[in-house]
Amino acid sequence: MIILGIETSCDETSVSIIKASSDRIEVLSNIVSSQIKLHSEWGGVVPNLAAREHLKNISPVLKRALTCSKKNIKDIDLISVTKGPGLMPALLIGTSFAKTISYIWEKPLIGIHHIEGHIYANFIDSKLSARSLTKKNTVTIYKGRGSRIKFPILCLVVSGGHTQLILMKDHLQYKIIGETQDDAAGEAFDKVARILGLGYPGGPAISAEAEKSNRQISDLPLRQDSGEASKIQISLPRPMINSGDFNFSFSGLKTAVLYKTKKMSLSQISNLKSQICREFQQAVIDVLICKTVNAAEKYNPETIILAGGVSANKELQKQMASAIKDNLPHSKFKIPNSEFSLDNAAMIAAASYFRWKNMSEKQKKDSLKNWKTLQTEAGLKLS
Ligand code: KG4
Ligand code: ZN
Repeated sequence: MIILGIETSCDETSVSIIKASSDRIEVLSNIVSSQIKLHSEWGGVVPNLAAREHLKNISPVLKRALTCSKKNIKDIDLISVTKGPGLMPALLIGTSFAKTISYIWEKPLIGIHHIEGHIYANFIDSKLSARSLTKKNTVTIYKGRGSRIKFPILCLVVSGGHTQLILMKDHLQYKIIGETQDDAAGEAFDKVARILGLGYPGGPAISAEAEKSNRQISDLPLRQDSGEASKIQISLPRPMINSGDFNFSFSGLKTAVLYKTKKMSLSQISNLKSQICREFQQAVIDVLICKTVNAAEKYNPETIILAGGVSANKELQKQMASAIKDNLPHSKFKIPNSEFSLDNAAMIAAASYFRWKNMSEKQKKDSLKNWKTLQTEAGLKLS
């Protein structure tokens, strides 16, 4: 079947067309219009500005998605849209638009939980999803078809708004076994980046700085004068690493960076920036890996998957793959293709295929009337 997906929960306007069957989920188009430039001026996403941009962009993005997929309206079997969680003004543009086209084109409509979308990004098949890390790394990431991922699945969701460990015994069945008690991992990356003057979004900027520090360390013996940065050791806590449960906390880690930098001059911060980023990133990674491995040892999943924007972090991918290989040789490790790790509509369309397959004939028929009844919920829970 051909599915049109729509995502506007935060700062990306995205429309995708996918071709889905029980054997394969193929992305025909996945257009993402990012608002990062606009929001970076404000140091974070401004909800009303995001809504205004979504409104401006959504029609041309839809047109491009249809053109690129070489499909037209009559080919579409189902429309799906992110109904929450997210920024209410932003979500409402997507859901109102989806309701309008569902009504006018007389197509069934279903609403999808944003995190369900991130999880199902792993089920998308594409040539590129058969990925491995750089040649230097010996760790392997499961390259099999998304549609063949085996249950039970342990899923580490790491995004700007969520950090959760979720156990899935089967499709669409979610048991949250641990979650953050305060900030999400991505939120911590964004806040630490703001403290260090690295702009928005923080994740890619921090990982780039951390990479610089890695290079400096590997260059060290060759350098005559390694300077101030090599003399000072930055060390940060690994919050809740020994808490004995699967919960997380990242707010204190961000505050630890704030207190450390408050004691430094601007030039010290500038000299030590990449070292701070490296240690902060490593602290987050250590906690994420420790909790995931502990949870996997308890629940014995067939597959461990990453989901959400922070899953784009190469160091996290590499170290998690290696920890799984060493500690859980019977579990496979899967990450979404980089194209589908940040917010996008293909993941929403992919999740909606599994929802649709699970619906009765009556529910499918009723979804033709969802343009009237679909609710948008900023604080929607995964169920
Ligand atoms: O999933 P996502 O696109 O949006 C939400 O649903 O929140 O995730 C965005 C988050 C941001 O906090 C961003 O800083 C983080 O993902 N992120 C990263 C990386 N790329 C994006 N965090 C760490 N390393 C990255 N390479
Ligand atoms: Zn997201």
